[in-house]
Amino acid sequence: MKTNLTINGQRLWDSLMSLAEIGATAKGGVCRLTLTDLDKQARDLFIRWCKEAGATITVDSMGNIFARREGRDPTRPPVMTGSHIDTQPTGGKFDGAYGVMAGLEVLRSLHDMEVETEAPIEIAVWTNEEGARYAPAMTGSGVFAGVFDEAETKAKTDRDGIAFGAALQKIGYAGDAACGGRPVGAFFECHIEQGPILEAEGKTIGIVTGGQAQRWYEVTLTGQESHAGTTPMERRRDALLGAARLIDNVNHIGMTRLPSARATCGVIESYPGSRNTIPGRVFLTVEFRHPDEAELADMDATFRAQAARIAGEIGLALEIKEIWHFPATPFAPECVAAVREAAAARGYPHRDIISGAGHDALYMARVAPTAMIFVPCDDGISHNEIEAAKPEHIAAGCQVLLDAMIRRANAPK
Ligand code: GLV
Ligand code: MN
Ligand code: MN
Repeated sequence: MKTNLTINGQRLWDSLMSLAEIGATAKGGVCRLTLTDLDKQARDLFIRWCKEAGATITVDSMGNIFARREGRDPTRPPVMTGSHIDTQPTGGKFDGAYGVMAGLEVLRSLHDMEVETEAPIEIAVWTNEEGARYAPAMTGSGVFAGVFDEAETKAKTDRDGIAFGAALQKIGYAGDAACGGRPVGAFFECHIEQGPILEAEGKTIGIVTGGQAQRWYEVTLTGQESHAGTTPMERRRDALLGAARLIDNVNHIGMTRLPSARATCGVIESYPGSRNTIPGRVFLTVEFRHPDEAELADMDATFRAQAARIAGEIGLALEIKEIWHFPATPFAPECVAAVREAAAARGYPHRDIISGAGHDALYMARVAPTAMIFVPCDDGISHNEIEAAKPEHIAAGCQVLLDAMIRRANAPK
């Protein structure tokens, strides 16, 4: 479906660039970790812009922000869009920010053109999508959707020992509204693809049909600290050596399940971190992803068996904590169809695609009919300061978002 409303692509682009100044890095990216002062500044700016576009603001107890534009029938559940404005430590200008600014542009377009919708429209900013400071990812939308316990989530600490709840209070975004427990009519999220498929095929719009499964782990290997100069090689219980073998093994688990598997070690901390003491303890993170749940279970079993073998060979104690299992999630056929029809009506080249990344929409899919709209990014690179996208693609995705949301908001009850 094509509406006769056109979004303002230049205004959307300018807003994205302004938002990217908050936490801008020398290499052209953004470092705006969740619940920091920079996150607060970005939230404040979003709220100011939404109020200028006539929206009313609610902040819930997880710090999720909702900007609402009333519908002709306020008893209808809102048609919602949104994403996140926290970033990775070496993040880009588009991951998350695009989905929020696209929502803002929808709001501004409706406001400028004085368009009334039947159902209310809401733009959400979800807290801690990235999971970079507080693992796992997507905890704001996860609590909203009833997947995570709120108190447990707020008790989680970052690597400096600061609790999520304390950080939320400190930036002044622990809101009064209850998190979740209210109906949402539909949820749509715009996002850059963060992979190479759309660009390689010359497609403007990815019709996202769902997201792949993930398992995240925290692994601790414990050996024995001892003197680097005096401890013979065969007497060492070197935890870092165990970690090195484990990391290679994790990569092998991915490489033997091409093309769909993903296997990553992202964090490694070696103790005591002295060059002439054999490392006695190593903490590392592991994550696996696969669109097929059975394949992911096989990766999990292989990893556990290989980790036990490696630890046994070196005489290390092994602890594996699975801290997150995110199931493969299909989106709602009617919302996927609305996105596909909007892309087709606008004449944008498009294809169906499965999301390799996690997104708030994947938790919203538990409580509302949901779909996502992807646009290409340069070289498929994301979670990198060089992350880039084309203004015409950014505008096209937002236009599809507006068309799909209006159609949904005006659908017969
Ligand atoms: C979120 O950015 C993810 O890890 O997929
Ligand atoms: Mn994202
Ligand atoms: Mn991300």
